[in-house]
Amino acid sequence: MTAELSPIDKAKYVAARRAVEFVEDGMRVGLGTGSTAAWMVRCLGELVREEGMMITGVATSSRTADLAREVGVTVKTLDDVRWLDLTIDGADEYDPNLNLIKGGGGALLHEKVVATASDQMVVIADLSKQVDTLGSFPLPVEIIPFGWQTTKALIEELLSNVDVLGRSASLRLSGTEPFKTDEGNYILDLHLRRIAQPAQLSLILNQIPGVVENGLFLDICDILVIGNADGSVEVRDINNGTIEHERVDVIDTDNLFVDIRE
Ligand code: 5RP
Repeated sequence: MTAELSPIDKAKYVAARRAVEFVEDGMRVGLGTGSTAAWMVRCLGELVREEGMMITGVATSSRTADLAREVGVTVKTLDDVRWLDLTIDGADEYDPNLNLIKGGGGALLHEKVVATASDQMVVIADLSKQVDTLGSFPLPVEIIPFGWQTTKALIEELLSNVDVLGRSASLRLSGTEPFKTDEGNYILDLHLRRIAQPAQLSLILNQIPGVVENGLFLDICDILVIGNADGSVEVRDINNGTIEHERVDVIDTDNLFVDIRE
């Protein structure tokens, strides 16, 4: 059977396939969360199963940990390994400086801890995530459940003094209940439309006591791999200032579907 991928899945797959070329035998790798990161985990599983590579993964969510184990990647905790060679993760938005909004999947806290504990962060995305200025995607902010409405009001008050175009915040829901992160926290999505000064916003958000972390990933991403449905990829390296255009063969993806077979 040849698994047929939709154009968007092809784009995600080729980004993931190219990104795992940065992984070397014996590396400790941070495993991101989301549909693009899931392709990366499947590609890593293939490297382990078919090329016998030794890879230790630190997952940024319970669902990524489950998938990694399923495809044969050894999963350890960050406390087990302490530091990582590389993290590969998706993003909800990236700007020309490779600053990001993350947390659409609700895993921003573990994602930021893991990416910060890595020598390098490689982000995998498609062109739909590209923006000139961050903020079209609602900014996720992880807050503690205790007094969450007060925290929300404090954030909204703070937003009246920062350079953004929208100022509303909504509690993320899962059905009719608040969505809960792997840490048992809530997520507020801030509808800002345009964030003129992300560094300033990130700093002041994190000063509010009920805020645990926000989804702005600033100066953390080293390499961005943008995948396209036609198999082309663009690799941007912010440290070297290089942009490379390459091709990835979309091979028979049969053995990547371990997790979604019946
Ligand atoms: C999860 C994230 C994801 O990386 C982000 O939401 C992108 O997900 P996808 O690859 O499914 O578009 O930040 O918290």
